[in-house]
Amino acid sequence: MFQPHDASLVPAGPEPPEPSLSSSRIARALSSAIFFAILAGFVALCALASDTHAQSGRVVDHDYVGADRCRACHVDEHTKWMSSAHARAFDVLSPREQQDARCLSCHTTVADDTSAPLVGVQCEACHGPGRYYALDYVMRDAELRSQLLMIEPGEKTCARCHTESSPSLRPFSYPEKREAIRHWNDAPKPKGTRP
Ligand code: HEC
Ligand code: HEC
Ligand code: HEC
Ligand code: HEC
Repeated sequence: MFQPHDASLVPAGPEPPEPSLSSSRIARALSSAIFFAILAGFVALCALASDTHAQSGRVVDHDYVGADRCRACHVDEHTKWMSSAHARAFDVLSPREQQDARCLSCHTTVADDTSAPLVGVQCEACHGPGRYYALDYVMRDAELRSQLLMIEPGEKTCARCHTESSPSLRPFSYPEKREAIRHWNDAPKPKGTRP
């Protein structure tokens, strides 16, 4: 039976007999047990985290945030992009090709990060890595966003992947292919504030 035990009620005098477990020793033993249990749990979690990290395919640090992030503010552009060949560029590869660095350089956004949020030729493959510019106040400032790695895509952007070796029946014509990926309108709209 458990007896509530208040140490202050133990009469002063000779030390209590040693082998019996005083409540303070139990408390100490318990608290160190809890401490080690938490520590072990933490270590296990860390191991798990680094494991899933490795499984995600991500081996380098980079500044790409993924198309879902752009979608938060660019729903129409995202919808149009989703129906384009670029959005499917990773899916058309076989499982083996999806691990082949020779294919990934053109068939996805970041060759060495094939985690789900980044697969396919996404916004950032053409507009630049978004970590620093995908913020409302940066996006509204034309000067700042280009300083923070936003790229104005043009013919050269396409040429990185649409090379002579890519499987195409006709040579790449920028004006034509630019129309084919149109996800914007040319109507004049207010640009970012300029100094
Ligand atoms: C230099 C860039 C580049 C590399 C490297 C590359 N591709 Fe492509 N691939 C392209 C481009 C660009 C197209 C689209 C060509 C077009 O239709 O105008 C394409 C198209 C394809 C298509 C046709 C997709 C469809 O919808 O019909 C397949 C399949 C394909 N590539 C597989 C591969 C495989 C497998 C590898 C690796 C062995 C690879 N590619 C490497 C750029 C590349
Ligand atoms: C294959 C390359 C490519 C991809 C992928 C791409 N874009 Fe674009 N984007 C362009 C090009 C090229 C233009 C037109 C640039 C020009 O000529 O002014 C453009 C224009 C735009 C514009 C309008 C710019 C302006 O001057 O009005 C926005 C906004 C935009 N893209 C957002 C996105 C978003 C969001 C995604 C992903 C959901 C995306 N883009 C994916 C190449 C791309
Ligand atoms: C990171 C590599 C990459 C970049 C950059 C890129 N593309 Fe592509 N593009 C591809 C791949 C890969 C395909 C084939 C996807 C598929 O069919 O599965 C493709 C397919 C296309 C297609 C459909 C097939 C065709 O030829 O009609 C168009 C249009 C296109 N790209 C236009 C552009 C334009 C315009 C730019 C530049 C503004 C551009 N791409 C930049 C990789 C790229
Ligand atoms: C927090 C909201 C927000 C997010 C997230 C965001 N944008 Fe924007 N973006 C804007 C706003 C607002 C503008 C309009 C700026 C203007 O009119 O000058 C803009 C403008 C643009 C333009 C047109 C620039 C030009 O030349 O007119 C492009 C391209 C673009 N964004 C691409 C992207 C891409 C790619 C991502 C994801 C990596 C992204 N944005 C994420 C809010 C956002």
